[in-house]
Amino acid sequence: MGHDEKALESLMRGDRVVSPTAATTAAAYIQDYDAEYRRSIADPEAFWDRIAKELEWFTPWRKVLDWNYPWAKWFVGATCNISYNCLDRHLNGWRKNKVAVIWVGEQGEERIFTYGELARQVNRCANALKALGLKQGDRVTIYLPKIPEQIVAMLACARIGVIHSVVYSGFSAPALESRIKDAESRLVITADVGYDRSKVIKLKPVVDQAVANCGSVETVVVVRREKPGIALAAPKEVDWDDWLAGEKPVCEAVPLDAETPLYILYTSGTTGKPKGVVHVHGGYMVGTYLTTKYVFDLKDNDVYFCVADPGWVTGHSYIVYGPLLNGATILTAEGKPDYPNPGRWWNLIERYGVSIFYTTPTAVRLLMKYGEEWPRKYDLSSLRILGSVGEPINPEAWEWYHRVTGGTKPIMDTWWQTETGMILITPLPSVPLKPGSATRPFLGVEADVVDRTGKPLPANEGGFAVITKPWPAMMRTIYKDPDRYLTYWHTIPNCYTAGDVCRKDDDGYFWFMGRADDVIKVAGNRIGTAEVESALVSHPAVAEAAVIGKPHKTAGEAIKAFVILKQGEHESPELIQGLKDHVLQELGKIAVPQEIDIVPSLPKTRSGKIMRRVLKAKELGQDPGDISTIEE
Ligand code: WTA
Repeated sequence: MGHDEKALESLMRGDRVVSPTAATTAAAYIQDYDAEYRRSIADPEAFWDRIAKELEWFTPWRKVLDWNYPWAKWFVGATCNISYNCLDRHLNGWRKNKVAVIWVGEQGEERIFTYGELARQVNRCANALKALGLKQGDRVTIYLPKIPEQIVAMLACARIGVIHSVVYSGFSAPALESRIKDAESRLVITADVGYDRSKVIKLKPVVDQAVANCGSVETVVVVRREKPGIALAAPKEVDWDDWLAGEKPVCEAVPLDAETPLYILYTSGTTGKPKGVVHVHGGYMVGTYLTTKYVFDLKDNDVYFCVADPGWVTGHSYIVYGPLLNGATILTAEGKPDYPNPGRWWNLIERYGVSIFYTTPTAVRLLMKYGEEWPRKYDLSSLRILGSVGEPINPEAWEWYHRVTGGTKPIMDTWWQTETGMILITPLPSVPLKPGSATRPFLGVEADVVDRTGKPLPANEGGFAVITKPWPAMMRTIYKDPDRYLTYWHTIPNCYTAGDVCRKDDDGYFWFMGRADDVIKVAGNRIGTAEVESALVSHPAVAEAAVIGKPHKTAGEAIKAFVILKQGEHESPELIQGLKDHVLQELGKIAVPQEIDIVPSLPKTRSGKIMRRVLKAKELGQDPGDISTIEE
């Protein structure tokens, strides 16, 4: 074996260790992870108690944790408000005129909000919510493209105890409708359009179609970006600017019990129905605050750029709440990494002097395809800390990301989920890295790899990733479906089962290998196979459908569907296209299968359950394993 091959082989095995530079460690809040971690888990409640005191509370807690397995209450008896901590906490000191948000539009527009200005906008919006009669506990659906109003609306809801449900603006009308219905939202906030690679995406007609069937919706507020503005049907439809115009820029944040719901965020699971993950003010605030601070080593002079969309959990926790709780300067940009050219993000990093850059493996692989000449055109020397989220990052993409950004900036491969609210398994900047590994648990977090019965597995044996103790930002329930919440904690007794397959190496480093269930990750987006199947089956030509995730070079996974047609239907390119269009209409672009095979039958168990595992093994040319239960 040649030298290169040996190096490659050890890379694949995960032998390469990338140590932090002396400068990185010297600058870091946490310089000795092992010691701090041991201390944090020796008494997690004392640890979180100490951290929570870095934030402001209206009244203190009687107890840090009330753990009634599997139900948790954190900071029992305390009152607080996350919006107050994101804004008011900074307004009393020098951060009042510090830049909070720099927003760059796809068309190159720029909008800058200081903490003072952001607070004024949020307060106006909170007063406008009150003027509509919205009160604590009511739900508002926010269906906006990536524009600052999305952030303003979220914080305004939080300010008065209204629960927001942000829906990613790529979802189609039926998907939006089911989310509005489940939440029984009284208000929907939307925009006339979004932009995607200069294409105008009309959002208002999607909302019209969705809201037509939602009795709960009293008002639709529309941010009008295009000139002349589209017509609105008063009194139900209101222009955003008019809505805020008469409102005062002062609105006291309501002191809320720490366990008051902050938001619902719908995410895909193993059934066709998305789950409304519920997060609360107190614990979520503490968890997102601390992880943002320690994982990214966030300091007051940093410029923090996270490429997510607030429509997903990464946007909630690491564009909006975590960074604002820390008083950070946040850069957020509408649009794709390769539009108008593949230098887009590198250009923004240079232009704004970004020091912390948080992105996804899919985006890295996409930019890799365009070549190193793109990042080389720009001065990226302001970068200090890098991040990755949403799916496993393959060592090849890791090495590229590391090299083109200067070769010395640590990459924080952060593992977490919508349900966990905060990053749980992750390096800190001072921790030695292994490309492709999310390394070890965050402070105060206890995790393991176990078998089905909950027995911890020896090093290098693959099993299920579990979290063995409650943590402050954990979801509190699934909206209107507590039984579904219970499954996370009852699948393997006494621990939270994440649904990921994983192994730990000899150093206790976690290597995530993908989902153990029927959830697929396409470009980091979470999609349930059952959702795509039910969309396909609702097409008049389809009798049955099965969907699997298949490895894809850029997107991590791609959707592949197997479809049985109804009697009398025939395969044709038009029909295949028709099926794709149908999924587009039912769910949205992210859920459209890349490949559809028409098949005469599907492998099933005797009880009629489709064996996706067998389909997948066959597709990938692998051994399907035990197929004794198969019928056809
Ligand atoms: C996957 C996204 C490997 C994992 C924040 C998890 C990851 C699911 C990583 C949650 C990572 C997220 N390495 N896999 N660093 N980060 N995942 O709810 O399968 O959209 O269960 O939250 O993404 O997806 P969700």
